[in-house]
Amino acid sequence: MRAPSPHNTQPWRFVVDGPRIEVWLDRSRVLTVADPARREARLSCGAAVYNLVLMLRSNGYGAALRILPDPAEYDLLAVVRFDGNVHPAPADRRLAEAIFRRHTNRRPFSTQPVSTVARVRLRSAALAEGGLLEFLDTSSRYAKVAALVRRAEAEQATDAAFQAESARWTGREPESSDGVPTVAFGPQPDLPGALPLRASHQNPTIPSRSFEQDALVAVVLTPDHGTAADVRAGLVLQRVLLTATADGLATSFVSQPFETKATRGPLLELFRGIGQPHTLLRIGHGLPTRMTARRPATDVTTVSATPDAPMGGPSSGVSGGGHSTEHVSERHHADQDSVVHHG
Ligand SMILES: Cc1cc2nc3c(=O)[nH]c(=O)nc-3n(C[C@H](O)[C@H](O)[C@H](O)COP(=O)(O)O)c2cc1C
Repeated sequence: MRAPSPHNTQPWRFVVDGPRIEVWLDRSRVLTVADPARREARLSCGAAVYNLVLMLRSNGYGAALRILPDPAEYDLLAVVRFDGNVHPAPADRRLAEAIFRRHTNRRPFSTQPVSTVARVRLRSAALAEGGLLEFLDTSSRYAKVAALVRRAEAEQATDAAFQAESARWTGREPESSDGVPTVAFGPQPDLPGALPLRASHQNPTIPSRSFEQDALVAVVLTPDHGTAADVRAGLVLQRVLLTATADGLATSFVSQPFETKATRGPLLELFRGIGQPHTLLRIGHGLPTRMTARRPATDVTTVSATPDAPMGGPSSGVSGGGHSTEHVSERHHADQDSVVHHG
Protein backbone atom coordinates (compact mmCIF):
# COMPACT_ATOMS: atom_id res chain seq x y z
CA MET A 1 0.00 0.00 0.00
CA ARG A 2 2.92 2.41 0.54
CA ALA A 3 3.95 2.16 -3.12
CA PRO A 4 3.89 5.36 -5.19
CA SER A 5 1.09 5.89 -7.69
CA PRO A 6 0.12 8.83 -9.93
CA HIS A 7 -1.80 11.37 -7.82
CA ASN A 8 -1.75 8.74 -5.03
CA THR A 9 -4.62 6.92 -6.73
CA GLN A 10 -3.54 3.53 -5.29
CA PRO A 11 -4.91 1.54 -8.25
CA TRP A 12 -4.46 -1.90 -6.65
CA ARG A 13 -6.41 -4.65 -4.97
CA PHE A 14 -5.04 -7.69 -3.14
CA VAL A 15 -6.77 -11.02 -2.91
CA VAL A 16 -5.39 -13.38 -0.27
CA ASP A 17 -6.25 -16.95 -1.09
CA GLY A 18 -4.41 -19.22 1.32
CA PRO A 19 -0.70 -19.12 0.49
CA ARG A 20 -1.40 -17.10 -2.65
CA ILE A 21 -1.71 -13.32 -2.88
CA GLU A 22 -3.09 -11.94 -6.11
CA VAL A 23 -2.38 -8.35 -7.12
CA TRP A 24 -5.13 -6.85 -9.29
CA LEU A 25 -5.37 -3.57 -11.12
CA ASP A 26 -8.32 -1.51 -9.84
CA ARG A 27 -9.70 0.11 -12.99
CA SER A 28 -11.94 2.43 -11.02
CA ARG A 29 -8.78 4.21 -9.83
CA VAL A 30 -7.05 4.69 -13.15
CA LEU A 31 -6.50 8.27 -14.40
CA THR A 32 -8.47 8.02 -17.61
CA VAL A 33 -7.13 11.27 -19.08
CA ALA A 34 -3.45 11.10 -18.08
CA ASP A 35 -3.16 7.33 -18.27
CA PRO A 36 -5.77 5.91 -20.69
CA ALA A 37 -3.67 2.81 -21.45
CA ARG A 38 -3.37 2.15 -17.67
CA ARG A 39 0.39 2.03 -18.03
CA GLU A 40 1.22 4.19 -15.01
CA ALA A 41 -1.35 2.23 -13.00
CA ARG A 42 0.39 -1.07 -13.88
CA LEU A 43 3.72 0.51 -12.97
CA SER A 44 2.28 1.43 -9.56
CA CYS A 45 0.95 -2.10 -9.05
CA GLY A 46 4.40 -3.44 -9.95
CA ALA A 47 5.90 -1.21 -7.25
CA ALA A 48 3.36 -2.61 -4.78
CA VAL A 49 4.30 -6.15 -5.84
CA TYR A 50 7.94 -5.35 -5.15
CA ASN A 51 7.05 -4.08 -1.66
CA LEU A 52 5.00 -7.21 -0.98
CA VAL A 53 7.72 -9.66 -2.01
CA LEU A 54 10.42 -7.66 -0.22
CA MET A 55 8.34 -7.47 2.95
CA LEU A 56 7.71 -11.23 2.95
CA ARG A 57 11.36 -12.07 2.32
CA SER A 58 12.68 -9.64 4.88
CA ASN A 59 10.34 -11.19 7.43
CA GLY A 60 11.58 -14.70 6.69
CA TYR A 61 8.97 -15.94 4.22
CA GLY A 62 10.04 -17.22 0.85
CA ALA A 63 7.97 -15.61 -1.92
CA ALA A 64 7.64 -16.93 -5.45
CA LEU A 65 6.48 -14.29 -7.91
CA ARG A 66 4.67 -14.76 -11.20
CA ILE A 67 4.09 -11.68 -13.29
CA LEU A 68 1.08 -11.89 -15.57
CA PRO A 69 -1.17 -10.47 -17.02
CA ASP A 70 -3.07 -13.51 -18.06
CA PRO A 71 -5.05 -12.80 -21.27
CA ALA A 72 -8.08 -14.44 -19.60
CA GLU A 73 -7.89 -12.21 -16.52
CA TYR A 74 -6.36 -9.06 -17.91
CA ASP A 75 -6.34 -7.10 -14.67
CA LEU A 76 -4.75 -9.85 -12.60
CA LEU A 77 -1.18 -8.55 -12.79
CA ALA A 78 0.83 -10.76 -10.49
CA VAL A 79 0.59 -13.68 -8.10
CA VAL A 80 2.85 -14.01 -5.07
CA ARG A 81 2.96 -17.37 -3.33
CA PHE A 82 4.44 -18.20 0.05
CA ASP A 83 7.33 -20.49 -0.66
CA GLY A 84 8.90 -21.91 2.48
CA ASN A 85 11.14 -19.97 4.81
CA VAL A 86 14.22 -17.95 4.08
CA HIS A 87 16.80 -16.32 6.25
CA PRO A 88 16.24 -12.60 5.67
CA ALA A 89 19.14 -10.95 3.88
CA PRO A 90 20.37 -7.77 5.65
CA ALA A 91 20.20 -5.91 2.32
CA ASP A 92 16.51 -6.83 1.95
CA ARG A 93 15.74 -5.69 5.48
CA ARG A 94 17.45 -2.37 4.83
CA LEU A 95 15.30 -1.84 1.73
CA ALA A 96 12.15 -3.03 3.49
CA GLU A 97 12.61 -0.45 6.22
CA ALA A 98 12.95 2.24 3.56
CA ILE A 99 9.38 1.46 2.39
CA PHE A 100 8.05 3.56 5.29
CA ARG A 101 10.36 6.52 4.66
CA ARG A 102 10.26 6.69 0.86
CA HIS A 103 8.22 9.59 -0.39
CA THR A 104 8.03 11.93 -3.33
CA ASN A 105 9.98 15.11 -2.64
CA ARG A 106 8.80 18.09 -4.74
CA ARG A 107 11.07 20.61 -3.05
CA PRO A 108 14.43 21.89 -4.30
CA PHE A 109 17.40 19.57 -3.92
CA SER A 110 20.79 20.81 -2.70
CA THR A 111 23.85 21.35 -4.87
CA GLN A 112 25.55 18.28 -3.36
CA PRO A 113 26.10 15.93 -6.28
CA VAL A 114 24.90 12.33 -6.28
CA SER A 115 28.12 10.34 -5.88
CA THR A 116 29.41 7.84 -8.39
CA VAL A 117 29.03 5.11 -5.78
CA ALA A 118 25.36 6.01 -5.27
CA ARG A 119 24.77 5.99 -9.02
CA VAL A 120 26.33 2.54 -9.33
CA ARG A 121 24.11 1.26 -6.52
CA LEU A 122 21.00 2.66 -8.19
CA ARG A 123 21.90 1.16 -11.53
CA SER A 124 22.61 -2.19 -9.87
CA ALA A 125 19.21 -2.02 -8.15
CA ALA A 126 17.53 -1.67 -11.55
CA LEU A 127 19.59 -4.48 -13.08
CA ALA A 128 18.74 -6.80 -10.18
CA GLU A 129 15.04 -6.56 -11.12
CA GLY A 130 15.64 -7.04 -14.83
CA GLY A 131 15.58 -3.36 -15.80
CA LEU A 132 17.93 -0.50 -16.56
CA LEU A 133 18.50 2.93 -15.10
CA GLU A 134 20.17 5.51 -17.34
CA PHE A 135 21.35 8.84 -15.95
CA LEU A 136 20.71 11.52 -18.51
CA ASP A 137 23.30 14.10 -17.48
CA THR A 138 26.07 12.23 -19.23
CA SER A 139 23.98 11.65 -22.33
CA SER A 140 23.16 13.75 -25.33
CA ARG A 141 19.50 12.97 -24.61
CA TYR A 142 19.16 15.34 -21.63
CA ALA A 143 18.31 18.42 -23.69
CA LYS A 144 15.90 16.47 -25.91
CA VAL A 145 14.11 14.89 -22.94
CA ALA A 146 13.92 18.27 -21.17
CA ALA A 147 12.37 19.83 -24.29
CA LEU A 148 9.73 17.06 -24.35
CA VAL A 149 8.97 17.62 -20.64
CA ARG A 150 8.45 21.37 -21.28
CA ARG A 151 6.26 20.67 -24.29
CA ALA A 152 4.09 18.14 -22.40
CA GLU A 153 3.79 20.40 -19.36
CA ALA A 154 2.66 23.29 -21.60
CA GLU A 155 0.14 21.06 -23.34
CA GLN A 156 -1.30 19.69 -20.10
CA ALA A 157 -1.57 23.23 -18.68
CA THR A 158 -4.14 24.09 -21.34
CA ASP A 159 -5.92 20.72 -21.44
CA ALA A 160 -9.17 21.23 -19.54
CA ALA A 161 -9.83 17.50 -19.10
CA PHE A 162 -6.34 16.91 -17.74
CA GLN A 163 -6.64 19.86 -15.37
CA ALA A 164 -10.04 18.70 -14.12
CA GLU A 165 -8.75 15.18 -13.45
CA SER A 166 -5.69 16.55 -11.68
CA ALA A 167 -7.84 18.89 -9.57
CA ARG A 168 -10.03 15.96 -8.48
CA TRP A 169 -7.02 14.12 -7.04
CA THR A 170 -4.82 16.91 -5.67
CA GLY A 171 -5.02 19.73 -3.16
CA ARG A 172 -6.44 17.39 -0.53
CA GLU A 173 -6.34 17.73 3.26
CA PRO A 174 -3.21 16.24 4.93
CA GLU A 175 -5.07 13.24 6.33
CA SER A 176 -6.86 12.35 3.06
CA SER A 177 -6.40 8.61 2.57
CA ASP A 178 -5.81 9.03 -1.16
CA GLY A 179 -4.95 11.84 -3.59
CA VAL A 180 -2.13 14.33 -3.09
CA PRO A 181 -2.46 16.70 -0.12
CA THR A 182 -1.36 20.30 -0.52
CA VAL A 183 1.27 19.73 2.20
CA ALA A 184 3.06 17.36 -0.18
CA PHE A 185 3.23 20.01 -2.94
CA GLY A 186 6.48 21.82 -3.65
CA PRO A 187 7.00 25.57 -3.94
CA GLN A 188 7.03 27.29 -7.31
CA PRO A 189 10.49 27.79 -8.80
CA ASP A 190 12.10 31.27 -8.84
CA LEU A 191 13.33 30.64 -12.33
CA PRO A 192 11.88 28.14 -14.78
CA GLY A 193 14.33 25.21 -14.82
CA ALA A 194 15.33 23.16 -17.84
CA LEU A 195 12.95 20.48 -16.63
CA PRO A 196 9.71 21.76 -15.09
CA LEU A 197 8.03 19.80 -12.31
CA ARG A 198 4.25 19.51 -12.50
CA ALA A 199 2.67 22.92 -11.93
CA SER A 200 -0.39 21.16 -10.54
CA HIS A 201 1.77 19.85 -7.66
CA GLN A 202 3.08 23.30 -6.70
CA ASN A 203 1.71 25.53 -3.99
CA PRO A 204 1.61 29.20 -5.11
CA THR A 205 0.74 30.35 -1.58
CA ILE A 206 4.18 29.48 -0.14
CA PRO A 207 7.33 31.47 -1.05
CA SER A 208 8.94 30.47 -4.33
CA ARG A 209 12.39 28.86 -4.13
CA SER A 210 15.31 28.31 -6.44
CA PHE A 211 15.47 24.79 -7.80
CA GLU A 212 18.41 23.01 -9.39
CA GLN A 213 18.64 24.33 -12.95
CA ASP A 214 19.74 21.04 -14.46
CA ALA A 215 18.19 18.47 -12.14
CA LEU A 216 19.79 15.03 -12.14
CA VAL A 217 17.36 12.83 -14.01
CA ALA A 218 17.40 9.10 -14.63
CA VAL A 219 15.12 7.04 -16.82
CA VAL A 220 13.73 3.62 -15.82
CA LEU A 221 13.78 1.19 -18.76
CA THR A 222 12.98 -2.44 -19.45
CA PRO A 223 14.41 -4.45 -22.34
CA ASP A 224 10.93 -5.33 -23.60
CA HIS A 225 7.56 -3.62 -23.77
CA GLY A 226 3.94 -4.54 -23.16
CA THR A 227 1.74 -5.03 -20.12
CA ALA A 228 4.02 -7.48 -18.30
CA ALA A 229 6.95 -5.13 -18.92
CA ASP A 230 4.96 -2.32 -17.28
CA VAL A 231 4.54 -4.43 -14.14
CA ARG A 232 8.20 -5.44 -14.24
CA ALA A 233 9.15 -1.76 -14.60
CA GLY A 234 7.23 -1.09 -11.39
CA LEU A 235 9.43 -3.56 -9.53
CA VAL A 236 12.52 -1.92 -11.03
CA LEU A 237 11.22 1.54 -10.14
CA GLN A 238 10.47 0.61 -6.54
CA ARG A 239 13.81 -1.07 -5.95
CA VAL A 240 15.56 2.03 -7.30
CA LEU A 241 13.43 4.32 -5.10
CA LEU A 242 14.01 2.24 -1.97
CA THR A 243 17.75 2.04 -2.67
CA ALA A 244 17.82 5.83 -3.04
CA THR A 245 15.87 6.26 0.21
CA ALA A 246 18.11 3.82 2.10
CA ASP A 247 21.14 5.78 0.81
CA GLY A 248 19.69 9.10 2.00
CA LEU A 249 18.69 10.37 -1.44
CA ALA A 250 15.49 12.22 -2.29
CA THR A 251 13.43 11.43 -5.39
CA SER A 252 10.53 12.74 -7.40
CA PHE A 253 8.87 11.91 -10.71
CA VAL A 254 8.78 13.72 -14.03
CA SER A 255 5.98 12.00 -15.96
CA GLN A 256 4.49 14.64 -18.23
CA PRO A 257 6.07 13.48 -21.53
CA PHE A 258 4.68 9.96 -21.09
CA GLU A 259 1.18 11.36 -20.85
CA THR A 260 0.65 13.41 -24.00
CA LYS A 261 0.39 11.84 -27.45
CA ALA A 262 2.65 14.44 -29.04
CA THR A 263 5.57 13.69 -26.71
CA ARG A 264 5.24 9.99 -25.89
CA GLY A 265 6.27 8.75 -29.35
CA PRO A 266 9.36 10.99 -29.62
CA LEU A 267 10.36 10.04 -26.07
CA LEU A 268 10.20 6.32 -26.85
CA GLU A 269 12.08 6.97 -30.07
CA LEU A 270 14.96 8.62 -28.15
CA PHE A 271 15.63 5.34 -26.32
CA ARG A 272 15.16 3.00 -29.27
CA GLY A 273 17.85 0.34 -29.11
CA ILE A 274 18.29 0.76 -25.35
CA GLY A 275 14.90 -0.25 -24.00
CA GLN A 276 11.37 0.85 -23.26
CA PRO A 277 11.35 3.98 -21.05
CA HIS A 278 8.70 3.90 -18.30
CA THR A 279 9.30 6.88 -16.09
CA LEU A 280 11.75 9.67 -15.35
CA LEU A 281 13.09 10.20 -11.84
CA ARG A 282 14.66 13.33 -10.40
CA ILE A 283 17.27 12.28 -7.83
CA GLY A 284 19.30 14.35 -5.39
CA HIS A 285 19.91 15.39 -1.82
CA GLY A 286 16.99 17.04 -0.05
CA LEU A 287 15.42 17.39 3.35
CA PRO A 288 12.62 14.91 4.06
CA THR A 289 9.15 16.26 3.29
CA ARG A 290 5.64 15.25 4.31
CA MET A 291 4.48 11.75 3.59
CA THR A 292 1.05 11.04 2.20
CA ALA A 293 -1.52 8.68 3.68
CA ARG A 294 -3.01 5.50 2.25
CA ARG A 295 -6.39 3.82 2.41
CA PRO A 296 -6.81 1.22 5.14
CA ALA A 297 -5.66 -2.32 4.30
CA THR A 298 -9.25 -3.55 4.64
CA ASP A 299 -10.29 -1.32 1.72
CA VAL A 300 -7.83 -2.95 -0.67
CA THR A 301 -7.71 -6.54 0.52
CA THR A 302 -10.13 -9.41 0.08
CA VAL A 303 -9.35 -12.54 2.05
CA SER A 304 -10.93 -15.59 0.46
CA ALA A 305 -8.86 -18.01 2.56
CA THR A 306 -6.42 -17.07 5.31
CA PRO A 307 -2.91 -18.31 4.82
CA ASP A 308 -2.16 -21.17 7.23
CA ALA A 309 0.70 -19.73 9.28
CA PRO A 310 2.91 -20.11 6.24
CA MET A 311 5.36 -22.94 6.74
CA GLY A 312 5.59 -22.36 10.46
CA GLY A 313 6.54 -18.66 10.41
CA PRO A 314 9.87 -16.95 10.23
CA SER A 315 11.18 -17.90 13.64
CA SER A 316 10.48 -21.61 13.33
CA GLY A 317 14.01 -22.23 12.17
CA VAL A 318 12.99 -24.18 9.04
CA SER A 319 15.76 -22.48 7.12
CA GLY A 320 16.67 -19.72 9.49
CA GLY A 321 18.78 -21.93 11.71
CA GLY A 322 16.49 -21.34 14.68
CA HIS A 323 17.14 -17.62 14.78
CA SER A 324 14.30 -15.55 16.05
CA THR A 325 13.77 -12.80 13.51
CA GLU A 326 12.44 -9.43 14.48
CA HIS A 327 9.78 -8.50 11.97
CA VAL A 328 10.26 -5.48 9.77
CA SER A 329 7.02 -3.61 10.11
CA GLU A 330 5.44 -0.21 10.09
CA ARG A 331 5.59 -0.16 13.87
CA HIS A 332 9.33 0.52 13.65
CA HIS A 333 8.51 3.87 12.21
CA ALA A 334 5.57 4.91 14.34
CA ASP A 335 7.71 7.67 15.82
CA GLN A 336 7.69 9.55 12.51
CA ASP A 337 4.99 12.04 13.28
CA SER A 338 4.63 13.08 9.68
CA VAL A 339 3.62 9.57 8.67
CA VAL A 340 -0.06 8.80 8.66
CA HIS A 341 -0.48 5.09 9.22
CA HIS A 342 -3.45 2.96 8.35
CA GLY A 343 -4.30 -0.63 8.61
C1 LIG B 1 3.96 6.26 -12.49
C2 LIG B 1 3.99 7.45 -11.55
C3 LIG B 1 4.04 8.73 -12.07
C4 LIG B 1 4.12 9.83 -11.22
N1 LIG B 1 4.24 11.09 -11.76
C5 LIG B 1 4.41 12.15 -10.96
C6 LIG B 1 4.67 13.46 -11.50
O1 LIG B 1 4.77 13.63 -12.72
N2 LIG B 1 4.85 14.48 -10.64
C7 LIG B 1 4.82 14.30 -9.29
O2 LIG B 1 5.02 15.27 -8.55
N3 LIG B 1 4.58 13.08 -8.74
C8 LIG B 1 4.39 12.02 -9.55
N4 LIG B 1 4.22 10.77 -9.00
C9 LIG B 1 4.26 10.60 -7.55
C10 LIG B 1 2.90 10.43 -6.92
O3 LIG B 1 2.17 11.63 -6.95
C11 LIG B 1 3.11 9.91 -5.50
O4 LIG B 1 3.71 8.64 -5.57
C12 LIG B 1 1.84 9.79 -4.71
O5 LIG B 1 1.26 11.05 -4.52
C13 LIG B 1 2.08 9.14 -3.35
O6 LIG B 1 3.00 9.89 -2.61
P1 LIG B 1 4.40 9.32 -2.14
O7 LIG B 1 5.19 8.93 -3.35
O8 LIG B 1 5.03 10.49 -1.42
O9 LIG B 1 4.15 8.15 -1.25
C14 LIG B 1 4.12 9.65 -9.83
C15 LIG B 1 4.06 8.34 -9.31
C16 LIG B 1 4.00 7.25 -10.16
C17 LIG B 1 3.99 5.87 -9.59
